[in-house]
Amino acid sequence: MYTVPQLASFTPDELDRATAELTSALAEESAAVKTDADYKVFRDRWMARKNGILTQINDTWLKAAPGPQKRDVGQRVNQIKGKVEQVVAETEKNLTAGGAASRLESERLDISLPGIRRKIGAEHPILRTMQEVVGVFKAMGYSVEDGPEIETDWFNFEALNFAENHPARDMADTLFVAGQEKKRRRDQYLLRTHTSPVQIRAMMKNPPPLRIVCPGKVFRHDAPDATHSPMFHQLECLAVDTNIKFSDLKGTLDHAMKMLYGPQVKTRFQPSFFPFTEPSAEIYISCPFCGGKGCRICKQSGWIEMGGSGMVHPNVFRSVAEHGYNPEKISGFAFGMGVDRLAALRWGIDDIQLFFQGDMRFLEQFA
Ligand code: DAH
Repeated sequence: MYTVPQLASFTPDELDRATAELTSALAEESAAVKTDADYKVFRDRWMARKNGILTQINDTWLKAAPGPQKRDVGQRVNQIKGKVEQVVAETEKNLTAGGAASRLESERLDISLPGIRRKIGAEHPILRTMQEVVGVFKAMGYSVEDGPEIETDWFNFEALNFAENHPARDMADTLFVAGQEKKRRRDQYLLRTHTSPVQIRAMMKNPPPLRIVCPGKVFRHDAPDATHSPMFHQLECLAVDTNIKFSDLKGTLDHAMKMLYGPQVKTRFQPSFFPFTEPSAEIYISCPFCGGKGCRICKQSGWIEMGGSGMVHPNVFRSVAEHGYNPEKISGFAFGMGVDRLAALRWGIDDIQLFFQGDMRFLEQFA
């Protein structure tokens, strides 16, 4: 270990040599400091007022220097003092940095561990089915309309030519908003039982010609089971122009069904009744699963029911006559399809409740 030597002479050479020896010892000892305790020993050894190395230099070198050399020796001792102070300060600084580093080490957090990933959602099979059908009609130039799920009796029934005592208006089938006994019947709110009131809204907004589709939720007072739900989905379609014929309805639906289920699919129309169409027809397609031969899905009939359709009843146009709809001059076709059944058929799902229960195990299969 370094000790302060007595100087044999005070020549510049001798002073250079002694200074070099001292500074290299200083550097070496500084480098050996590893802990706070090491540092205190090191600092005191060099800087303690009583017998620290600086004090010793002062005593052994400066005081012993003969008169003529005192100035030179004094300057060197001052330089050494500055150097020692600087190295001691740096040593302390390195120590705190090192200490902080080792403290950090104990608090280390491995950010390369994978986090909890939030899964990207999947489009619900009902929405997906709606988008596919809507896409086919958009390609034919139809635009998409929207309407409220809470409707008035007028939009849902009266404007659509439902008779005053039509059974669909019965509270047993339709969900009415409570506490409206004092209102006129036509103003009473209900949950729309079909998407057909959007036909009325679309015609009130736009004069003919008109081509619209409207997908949406509808509500009926039904107990839920494998094929029923108090809330389900429909897709409505309406085309109005000066010369729309039943063959336009057939051609349009036939094209749409072939786009959705393949070119081999056939469509069939069977007479039916709806207050807002005359004539009215139920739409069937040949079963896409068995090709019409008969299977479990089509219940061995070879045909699957898709919804209702028909030529718009003149009374429906009369409901919106002041918006430019005159049944003497224009005609139109309309249809409404059940979306839930379409989706269930498409994925072979035998219980439509699965669509509405929000069970992740079911929904994840559509991701
Ligand atoms: N709105 C009818 C329903 O729920 C379906 C329907 C039939 C819609 C014939 C139409 C139509 O547009 O022309 O049950």
